[in-house]
Amino acid sequence: MASRHPAIRTGKAGFATKAIHAGQVPDPATGAVMQPIYQVSTYRQPGLGAGWKYDYARTINPTRGALERNLAALEGGLEARCFASGMSAIAAVMNLLKSGDHVVVSRNVYGGTYRLFEGLLRQFGLLFTWVDTSDLSAIEAAIRPATKMLYVETPTNPVLGLTDLAAAGRIARKHKLRLVVDNTFMSPYFQQPIALGADIVVHSTTKYLNGHSDSVGGCVVTTRPEDAQRIGWLQNTVGAILSPMDSFLVLRGIKTLPVRMERHDASGRKIAAWLDGRRKIAAVHYPGLKSHPQHALAKRQMSGFGGMIAFELGSLANAKKFLGRLELCALAESLGGVETLISHPASMTHGAIPKAERKRIGVTDGLVRISAGLEDVDDLIADLKQALAAV
Ligand SMILES: Cc1ncc(COP(=O)(O)O)c(C=O)c1O
Repeated sequence: MASRHPAIRTGKAGFATKAIHAGQVPDPATGAVMQPIYQVSTYRQPGLGAGWKYDYARTINPTRGALERNLAALEGGLEARCFASGMSAIAAVMNLLKSGDHVVVSRNVYGGTYRLFEGLLRQFGLLFTWVDTSDLSAIEAAIRPATKMLYVETPTNPVLGLTDLAAAGRIARKHKLRLVVDNTFMSPYFQQPIALGADIVVHSTTKYLNGHSDSVGGCVVTTRPEDAQRIGWLQNTVGAILSPMDSFLVLRGIKTLPVRMERHDASGRKIAAWLDGRRKIAAVHYPGLKSHPQHALAKRQMSGFGGMIAFELGSLANAKKFLGRLELCALAESLGGVETLISHPASMTHGAIPKAERKRIGVTDGLVRISAGLEDVDDLIADLKQALAAV
Protein backbone atom coordinates (compact mmCIF):
# COMPACT_ATOMS: atom_id res chain seq x y z
CA MET A 1 0.00 0.00 0.00
CA ALA A 2 1.42 3.40 -0.94
CA SER A 3 1.20 6.51 1.23
CA ARG A 4 -2.00 8.57 0.89
CA HIS A 5 0.07 11.77 1.01
CA PRO A 6 0.86 12.93 -2.55
CA ALA A 7 4.10 14.69 -1.56
CA ILE A 8 5.40 11.46 -0.03
CA ARG A 9 4.30 9.36 -2.99
CA THR A 10 6.07 11.68 -5.41
CA GLY A 11 9.14 12.23 -3.21
CA LYS A 12 8.48 15.98 -2.98
CA ALA A 13 7.87 16.12 0.78
CA GLY A 14 10.44 17.82 3.03
CA PHE A 15 13.11 15.82 4.83
CA ALA A 16 11.38 15.70 8.24
CA THR A 17 8.08 14.62 6.67
CA LYS A 18 9.87 11.85 4.78
CA ALA A 19 11.79 10.82 7.92
CA ILE A 20 8.50 10.21 9.73
CA HIS A 21 6.35 8.84 6.92
CA ALA A 22 8.29 7.62 3.87
CA GLY A 23 8.02 3.89 3.29
CA GLN A 24 5.38 3.48 5.95
CA VAL A 25 1.62 3.24 6.00
CA PRO A 26 -0.67 2.59 8.97
CA ASP A 27 -0.82 -1.17 9.57
CA PRO A 28 -3.64 -2.43 7.29
CA ALA A 29 -4.86 -4.89 9.95
CA THR A 30 -5.13 -2.46 12.90
CA GLY A 31 -4.28 1.07 11.78
CA ALA A 32 -1.25 1.05 14.14
CA VAL A 33 0.69 4.22 13.30
CA MET A 34 4.05 2.62 14.08
CA GLN A 35 5.37 -0.08 11.78
CA PRO A 36 4.68 -3.38 13.62
CA ILE A 37 7.61 -5.63 14.46
CA TYR A 38 7.07 -8.74 12.34
CA GLN A 39 9.00 -11.11 14.58
CA VAL A 40 8.55 -14.09 12.32
CA SER A 41 10.72 -16.43 10.27
CA THR A 42 8.21 -17.68 7.71
CA TYR A 43 4.72 -17.06 6.30
CA ARG A 44 1.81 -19.36 5.57
CA GLN A 45 1.22 -19.31 1.83
CA PRO A 46 -2.30 -19.48 0.40
CA GLY A 47 -1.48 -22.25 -2.06
CA LEU A 48 1.35 -23.85 -3.97
CA GLY A 49 2.56 -21.57 -6.73
CA ALA A 50 0.13 -18.83 -5.61
CA GLY A 51 2.88 -16.21 -6.03
CA TRP A 52 2.68 -15.05 -2.38
CA LYS A 53 5.07 -12.12 -1.90
CA TYR A 54 6.24 -13.18 1.57
CA ASP A 55 8.06 -16.50 1.51
CA TYR A 56 10.90 -16.48 4.06
CA ALA A 57 12.09 -13.77 6.46
CA ARG A 58 15.76 -13.74 5.44
CA THR A 59 14.50 -12.77 2.00
CA ILE A 60 11.69 -10.40 2.95
CA ASN A 61 10.36 -8.93 6.18
CA PRO A 62 7.76 -6.14 6.36
CA THR A 63 9.48 -4.26 9.22
CA ARG A 64 12.83 -4.30 7.43
CA GLY A 65 11.08 -3.40 4.16
CA ALA A 66 9.56 -0.27 5.72
CA LEU A 67 12.98 0.85 6.96
CA GLU A 68 14.55 0.13 3.57
CA ARG A 69 11.94 2.20 1.71
CA ASN A 70 12.40 4.99 4.23
CA LEU A 71 16.20 5.04 3.82
CA ALA A 72 15.96 4.98 0.03
CA ALA A 73 13.68 8.04 0.21
CA LEU A 74 15.95 9.93 2.64
CA GLU A 75 19.11 9.35 0.59
CA GLY A 76 17.37 9.88 -2.76
CA GLY A 77 18.30 6.39 -3.95
CA LEU A 78 16.53 3.75 -5.97
CA GLU A 79 16.60 1.05 -3.29
CA ALA A 80 18.03 0.47 0.18
CA ARG A 81 18.89 -2.83 1.86
CA CYS A 82 19.60 -3.25 5.56
CA PHE A 83 22.25 -5.43 7.08
CA ALA A 84 23.24 -6.76 10.50
CA SER A 85 25.96 -4.11 10.94
CA GLY A 86 27.68 -1.30 9.09
CA MET A 87 30.51 -3.70 8.35
CA SER A 88 28.22 -6.28 6.74
CA ALA A 89 26.71 -3.49 4.61
CA ILE A 90 30.20 -2.45 3.45
CA ALA A 91 31.12 -6.11 2.84
CA ALA A 92 28.02 -6.47 0.63
CA VAL A 93 29.11 -3.48 -1.46
CA MET A 94 32.57 -4.96 -1.89
CA ASN A 95 30.94 -8.19 -3.06
CA LEU A 96 29.92 -6.29 -6.18
CA LEU A 97 33.58 -6.60 -7.21
CA LYS A 98 35.56 -9.58 -8.39
CA SER A 99 39.11 -10.80 -7.99
CA GLY A 100 41.59 -8.50 -9.76
CA ASP A 101 39.39 -5.39 -9.42
CA HIS A 102 41.09 -2.33 -7.98
CA VAL A 103 39.62 0.20 -5.53
CA VAL A 104 40.85 3.72 -4.81
CA VAL A 105 39.97 4.40 -1.18
CA SER A 106 40.23 7.32 1.27
CA ARG A 107 43.35 6.66 3.32
CA ASN A 108 41.54 7.65 6.50
CA VAL A 109 38.47 5.47 7.01
CA TYR A 110 36.92 3.73 10.00
CA GLY A 111 39.43 1.15 11.34
CA GLY A 112 37.04 -1.74 10.71
CA THR A 113 36.79 -0.79 7.03
CA TYR A 114 40.58 -0.82 6.78
CA ARG A 115 40.64 -4.27 8.45
CA LEU A 116 38.00 -5.62 6.04
CA PHE A 117 39.81 -4.33 2.94
CA GLU A 118 43.41 -5.09 3.91
CA GLY A 119 42.93 -8.06 6.25
CA LEU A 120 40.25 -9.98 4.36
CA LEU A 121 39.40 -8.79 0.87
CA ARG A 122 43.00 -8.52 -0.33
CA GLN A 123 43.16 -12.27 0.30
CA PHE A 124 40.41 -12.71 -2.32
CA GLY A 125 42.31 -10.75 -4.94
CA LEU A 126 40.83 -7.27 -4.53
CA LEU A 127 43.42 -4.51 -4.81
CA PHE A 128 43.39 -1.27 -2.83
CA THR A 129 45.24 2.02 -3.16
CA TRP A 130 44.90 4.30 -0.15
CA VAL A 131 44.98 7.96 -1.05
CA ASP A 132 44.18 11.30 0.49
CA THR A 133 40.89 11.76 -1.38
CA SER A 134 40.74 15.41 -0.35
CA ASP A 135 43.40 15.76 -3.06
CA LEU A 136 41.58 15.23 -6.39
CA SER A 137 44.82 14.86 -8.35
CA ALA A 138 45.83 12.01 -6.00
CA ILE A 139 42.58 10.23 -6.88
CA GLU A 140 43.23 10.66 -10.61
CA ALA A 141 46.83 9.49 -10.25
CA ALA A 142 45.79 6.28 -8.45
CA ILE A 143 43.29 5.16 -11.11
CA ARG A 144 44.41 2.21 -13.30
CA PRO A 145 42.69 0.16 -15.99
CA ALA A 146 41.53 -2.34 -13.31
CA THR A 147 39.99 0.36 -11.08
CA LYS A 148 36.28 -0.23 -10.58
CA MET A 149 35.43 1.74 -7.47
CA LEU A 150 36.20 4.95 -5.64
CA TYR A 151 35.41 4.46 -1.95
CA VAL A 152 35.16 7.61 0.15
CA GLU A 153 34.40 8.43 3.74
CA THR A 154 33.58 12.12 4.26
CA PRO A 155 34.03 13.55 6.78
CA THR A 156 36.55 10.92 7.75
CA ASN A 157 36.56 9.04 11.02
CA PRO A 158 38.25 10.35 13.16
CA VAL A 159 40.14 13.36 11.75
CA LEU A 160 37.18 14.89 9.92
CA GLY A 161 38.89 15.32 6.54
CA LEU A 162 36.56 16.07 3.63
CA THR A 163 36.36 14.89 0.05
CA ASP A 164 34.71 17.07 -2.59
CA LEU A 165 31.88 14.73 -3.56
CA ALA A 166 30.77 16.58 -6.69
CA ALA A 167 34.34 16.52 -8.02
CA ALA A 168 34.83 12.88 -6.97
CA GLY A 169 31.58 12.07 -8.79
CA ARG A 170 32.92 13.69 -11.98
CA ILE A 171 36.14 11.67 -11.74
CA ALA A 172 34.14 8.49 -11.14
CA ARG A 173 31.95 9.12 -14.19
CA LYS A 174 34.92 9.97 -16.39
CA HIS A 175 36.62 6.68 -15.53
CA LYS A 176 33.39 4.64 -15.28
CA LEU A 177 33.88 3.82 -11.59
CA ARG A 178 31.26 3.43 -8.90
CA LEU A 179 31.54 6.19 -6.32
CA VAL A 180 30.70 4.70 -2.91
CA VAL A 181 30.28 7.09 0.03
CA ASP A 182 30.13 6.19 3.72
CA ASN A 183 27.68 8.85 4.96
CA THR A 184 27.62 7.70 8.59
CA PHE A 185 29.07 10.88 10.11
CA MET A 186 26.70 13.39 8.52
CA SER A 187 23.57 11.24 7.99
CA PRO A 188 21.31 12.10 5.04
CA TYR A 189 20.05 15.09 7.03
CA PHE A 190 23.29 17.05 6.59
CA GLN A 191 24.75 15.45 3.46
CA GLN A 192 23.17 14.00 0.31
CA PRO A 193 25.94 12.15 -1.54
CA ILE A 194 23.67 10.78 -4.28
CA ALA A 195 22.54 14.29 -5.25
CA LEU A 196 26.25 15.18 -5.48
CA GLY A 197 27.13 12.23 -7.72
CA ALA A 198 27.53 9.09 -5.58
CA ASP A 199 26.33 5.77 -7.00
CA ILE A 200 26.09 3.98 -3.65
CA VAL A 201 25.77 5.22 -0.07
CA VAL A 202 26.55 3.10 2.97
CA HIS A 203 25.79 3.71 6.63
CA SER A 204 26.43 2.24 9.96
CA THR A 205 22.82 2.68 11.15
CA THR A 206 24.26 1.97 14.60
CA LYS A 207 25.18 5.66 14.73
CA TYR A 208 23.01 8.73 14.00
CA LEU A 209 20.23 6.92 12.14
CA ASN A 210 19.36 4.77 15.14
CA GLY A 211 20.63 7.50 17.42
CA HIS A 212 19.99 5.85 20.79
CA SER A 213 22.92 3.40 21.17
CA ASP A 214 20.57 0.43 21.32
CA SER A 215 21.01 -1.26 17.94
CA VAL A 216 23.79 -2.40 15.60
CA GLY A 217 23.03 -2.29 11.88
CA GLY A 218 23.95 -1.03 8.44
CA CYS A 219 22.45 -0.15 5.10
CA VAL A 220 23.37 0.13 1.43
CA VAL A 221 21.51 2.60 -0.77
CA THR A 222 21.86 2.05 -4.51
CA THR A 223 21.02 4.14 -7.57
CA ARG A 224 21.59 1.77 -10.49
CA PRO A 225 19.02 -0.97 -11.16
CA GLU A 226 21.76 -3.59 -11.64
CA ASP A 227 23.39 -2.69 -8.29
CA ALA A 228 20.01 -2.66 -6.53
CA GLN A 229 19.27 -6.12 -7.89
CA ARG A 230 22.69 -7.49 -6.94
CA ILE A 231 22.73 -6.00 -3.41
CA GLY A 232 19.28 -7.51 -2.81
CA TRP A 233 20.57 -10.84 -4.11
CA LEU A 234 23.65 -10.59 -1.85
CA GLN A 235 21.51 -9.71 1.17
CA ASN A 236 19.53 -12.89 0.67
CA THR A 237 22.47 -15.06 -0.41
CA VAL A 238 24.97 -14.10 2.30
CA GLY A 239 22.16 -13.56 4.79
CA ALA A 240 23.56 -10.85 7.10
CA ILE A 241 20.14 -9.22 7.46
CA LEU A 242 18.95 -6.64 9.98
CA SER A 243 16.56 -8.20 12.52
CA PRO A 244 12.92 -7.07 12.78
CA MET A 245 13.51 -5.54 16.22
CA ASP A 246 16.57 -3.62 15.02
CA SER A 247 14.68 -2.50 11.91
CA PHE A 248 11.97 -1.11 14.17
CA LEU A 249 14.49 0.67 16.41
CA VAL A 250 16.25 2.33 13.47
CA LEU A 251 12.94 3.32 11.88
CA ARG A 252 11.84 4.84 15.19
CA GLY A 253 15.19 6.61 15.60
CA ILE A 254 14.96 8.13 12.11
CA LYS A 255 11.67 9.85 13.00
CA THR A 256 13.63 12.25 15.23
CA LEU A 257 16.78 12.41 13.07
CA PRO A 258 16.25 16.06 11.95
CA VAL A 259 15.75 17.42 15.49
CA ARG A 260 18.58 15.33 16.90
CA MET A 261 21.00 16.36 14.14
CA GLU A 262 20.20 20.05 14.72
CA ARG A 263 21.08 19.65 18.39
CA HIS A 264 24.22 17.54 17.73
CA ASP A 265 25.31 20.28 15.35
CA ALA A 266 24.58 23.18 17.73
CA SER A 267 26.47 21.47 20.56
CA GLY A 268 29.27 20.37 18.22
CA ARG A 269 29.85 23.98 17.17
CA LYS A 270 29.93 25.23 20.77
CA ILE A 271 32.21 22.47 22.04
CA ALA A 272 34.60 22.84 19.09
CA ALA A 273 34.80 26.61 19.64
CA TRP A 274 35.48 26.07 23.35
CA LEU A 275 38.16 23.43 22.71
CA ASP A 276 39.76 25.67 20.10
CA GLY A 277 40.58 28.28 22.70
CA ARG A 278 42.36 25.95 25.17
CA ARG A 279 46.10 26.26 25.68
CA LYS A 280 46.52 22.52 26.39
CA ILE A 281 44.93 21.50 23.09
CA ALA A 282 47.29 21.56 20.14
CA ALA A 283 44.70 21.16 17.37
CA VAL A 284 40.93 20.84 16.98
CA HIS A 285 39.49 19.04 13.94
CA TYR A 286 35.95 20.18 13.20
CA PRO A 287 34.63 21.17 9.75
CA GLY A 288 32.67 24.05 11.30
CA LEU A 289 35.79 25.84 12.49
CA LYS A 290 37.21 28.50 10.18
CA SER A 291 40.63 26.94 10.82
CA HIS A 292 39.52 23.63 9.24
CA PRO A 293 41.40 23.42 5.91
CA GLN A 294 38.17 22.53 4.08
CA HIS A 295 35.75 24.79 5.90
CA ALA A 296 34.57 26.33 2.60
CA LEU A 297 33.89 22.88 1.12
CA ALA A 298 32.08 21.87 4.33
CA LYS A 299 29.75 24.85 3.95
CA ARG A 300 29.14 24.00 0.30
CA GLN A 301 28.52 20.27 0.47
CA MET A 302 26.99 19.80 3.92
CA SER A 303 24.03 21.63 5.42
CA GLY A 304 25.47 21.36 8.95
CA PHE A 305 28.77 20.45 10.56
CA GLY A 306 27.50 17.75 12.90
CA GLY A 307 28.54 16.63 16.34
CA MET A 308 31.86 14.86 15.69
CA ILE A 309 35.03 16.59 16.88
CA ALA A 310 38.59 15.35 17.29
CA PHE A 311 41.34 17.12 19.19
CA GLU A 312 44.99 16.68 20.02
CA LEU A 313 46.25 16.38 23.58
CA GLY A 314 49.87 15.79 22.58
CA SER A 315 50.55 12.37 24.13
CA LEU A 316 49.02 9.09 25.24
CA ALA A 317 49.72 10.05 28.88
CA ASN A 318 47.70 13.27 28.49
CA ALA A 319 44.86 11.43 26.73
CA LYS A 320 44.78 8.86 29.57
CA LYS A 321 44.68 11.55 32.25
CA PHE A 322 41.92 13.44 30.46
CA LEU A 323 39.76 10.40 29.68
CA GLY A 324 40.18 9.05 33.20
CA ARG A 325 38.73 12.22 34.74
CA LEU A 326 35.52 12.54 32.68
CA GLU A 327 32.33 12.16 34.68
CA LEU A 328 29.44 12.94 32.32
CA CYS A 329 30.96 12.05 28.92
CA ALA A 330 31.36 8.27 28.55
CA LEU A 331 34.59 6.66 27.38
CA ALA A 332 33.16 4.35 24.72
CA GLU A 333 33.41 3.13 21.14
CA SER A 334 30.70 4.30 18.72
CA LEU A 335 29.07 7.65 18.10
CA GLY A 336 25.84 9.34 17.14
CA GLY A 337 23.84 8.46 20.24
CA VAL A 338 21.86 10.79 22.50
CA GLU A 339 24.63 10.54 25.10
CA THR A 340 28.06 12.07 24.65
CA LEU A 341 30.68 9.44 23.86
CA ILE A 342 34.44 10.00 23.88
CA SER A 343 36.99 7.66 22.44
CA HIS A 344 40.71 7.25 21.89
CA PRO A 345 40.86 6.27 18.19
CA ALA A 346 44.46 4.96 18.20
CA SER A 347 43.66 2.22 20.74
CA MET A 348 39.93 1.81 20.10
CA THR A 349 38.14 2.42 16.78
CA HIS A 350 41.34 2.56 14.71
CA GLY A 351 43.42 -0.02 16.59
CA ALA A 352 43.30 -2.32 13.52
CA ILE A 353 45.42 0.15 11.52
CA PRO A 354 49.21 -0.30 11.86
CA LYS A 355 50.87 2.42 13.94
CA ALA A 356 52.93 3.88 11.08
CA GLU A 357 49.84 4.19 8.91
CA ARG A 358 47.88 5.73 11.80
CA LYS A 359 50.60 8.33 12.21
CA ARG A 360 50.53 9.13 8.48
CA ILE A 361 46.79 9.88 8.60
CA GLY A 362 46.94 11.89 11.82
CA VAL A 363 45.55 9.31 14.25
CA THR A 364 48.15 10.05 16.91
CA ASP A 365 48.33 8.61 20.43
CA GLY A 366 47.19 11.98 21.80
CA LEU A 367 44.08 12.25 19.61
CA VAL A 368 40.69 12.13 21.31
CA ARG A 369 37.32 11.98 19.50
CA ILE A 370 34.04 13.34 20.84
CA SER A 371 30.55 12.50 19.66
CA ALA A 372 28.57 15.38 21.14
CA GLY A 373 25.29 14.09 22.52
CA LEU A 374 22.06 15.85 23.35
CA GLU A 375 22.79 16.80 26.98
CA ASP A 376 22.91 20.48 27.97
CA VAL A 377 26.01 21.74 26.26
CA ASP A 378 27.10 23.76 29.30
CA ASP A 379 27.19 20.55 31.35
CA LEU A 380 29.31 18.90 28.65
CA ILE A 381 31.75 21.79 28.51
CA ALA A 382 31.99 21.85 32.32
CA ASP A 383 32.89 18.14 32.27
CA LEU A 384 35.52 18.66 29.56
CA LYS A 385 36.93 21.60 31.51
CA GLN A 386 37.35 19.70 34.77
CA ALA A 387 38.94 16.75 32.91
CA LEU A 388 41.32 19.05 31.05
CA ALA A 389 42.52 20.41 34.38
CA ALA A 390 44.08 16.96 34.99
CA VAL A 391 46.32 17.28 31.93
C1 LIG B 1 32.19 5.68 9.50
C2 LIG B 1 31.87 4.28 9.91
N1 LIG B 1 31.53 3.37 8.97
C3 LIG B 1 31.24 2.09 9.30
C4 LIG B 1 31.29 1.66 10.60
C5 LIG B 1 30.98 0.22 10.93
O1 LIG B 1 29.69 0.10 11.44
P1 LIG B 1 29.23 -1.03 12.48
O2 LIG B 1 29.96 -0.80 13.75
O3 LIG B 1 27.75 -0.80 12.58
O4 LIG B 1 29.55 -2.35 11.88
C6 LIG B 1 31.62 2.56 11.62
C7 LIG B 1 31.67 2.11 13.02
O5 LIG B 1 32.12 2.81 13.90
C8 LIG B 1 31.91 3.91 11.27
O6 LIG B 1 32.25 4.82 12.19
